[in-house]
Amino acid sequence: SPATPTSPPESSVTDKYAFAFDIDGVLIRGGRPIPEAIEAMKMLNGDNEYGVKVPYIFVTNGGGKTESERCVQLSKQLEIEVSPGQFICGHTPMREMAEKFNTVLVVGGEGEKCRLVAEGYGFKDVVTPGDIIKDNEDTTPFRTLTPEEYKNSRARNFAEVEIEAIFVFADSRDWASDQQIILDLLMSKNGRLGTRSETFEEGPPVFFSHNDVVWSASHDLTRIGMGALRVSLEAMFKAVTGKELKTTAFGKPQIGTFEFATRLLQQWRKDTHGINCPPDTVYFVGDTPESDIRGTNEYNKHAENNWYSILVRTGVFQEGTKPRFQPKATVDNVLEAVKHGIEREY
Ligand code: G3P
Ligand code: MG
Repeated sequence: SPATPTSPPESSVTDKYAFAFDIDGVLIRGGRPIPEAIEAMKMLNGDNEYGVKVPYIFVTNGGGKTESERCVQLSKQLEIEVSPGQFICGHTPMREMAEKFNTVLVVGGEGEKCRLVAEGYGFKDVVTPGDIIKDNEDTTPFRTLTPEEYKNSRARNFAEVEIEAIFVFADSRDWASDQQIILDLLMSKNGRLGTRSETFEEGPPVFFSHNDVVWSASHDLTRIGMGALRVSLEAMFKAVTGKELKTTAFGKPQIGTFEFATRLLQQWRKDTHGINCPPDTVYFVGDTPESDIRGTNEYNKHAENNWYSILVRTGVFQEGTKPRFQPKATVDNVLEAVKHGIEREY
């Protein structure tokens, strides 16, 4: 491609197109930026042969901390300013469920982080597995709370509490004990711990913030993720009760997540660039065919605007396998994806 001119024409923002990025396997792996990611961000910020600035947002299935905390981290990793106004993670759309339930169990993530996220979303009464173990340490025969966990957990008499829903916000740090507690609730009478239903049909609903069975972390090979916990829980429920368990997942590839992303992008382009019309094309760059490419392609069928899927080779998708969902383009890395999108426009 042509070299970047030494004095580029005055930067201007395009209203014609925009980018949306998956994070793990596209921009970051195991907490470290993928080398080409930093240059890709520079290119979008005007360092390209057209001197054009291109608006962009981030849509990750990951989570486990507040959107603003994650944006501070992402800003450092990518050497740009990332605002919560351009960021959605797996659990972001769960904020819309806060009004629906009173007492909820929130599972996953480090320490108390997910409780704080849920409370920040407006959930009124948030219980964690630690609270339940603190109330009754016999709940999990092989897990004892650390002194820190014990201090932060909020014991109460759970025999008197009705847990109305279960939300898996982030990856479980202890599958066995988290699954035991979820199973107890699913087999209970109306979400009351210590009881057993006769039908196993009155337990609380379970929501996962996404359904990725595997994801791309620092290991060369993919690692199991939240979707694997979901599969495991459903199989275990069946093995123990003989009944089917229906759970719900948010995140990509759900159309609702792409609708949410469209609203976010619209607001972001308006607030930061004064753009009032929808973009003609949104380039979505992802590494996971089952969530990123599938979601983008399906959303494209419904949306008025055009979502264009680009698959990279730096994450879950590996060369030699045929992706189950066909992207519009496959490129080596995120920098090539940005170049591909920009060049298509001129
Ligand atoms: O746990 C996070 C992972 O499953 C996916 O993150 O950024 O690739 O959507 P991302
Ligand atoms: Mg990814």
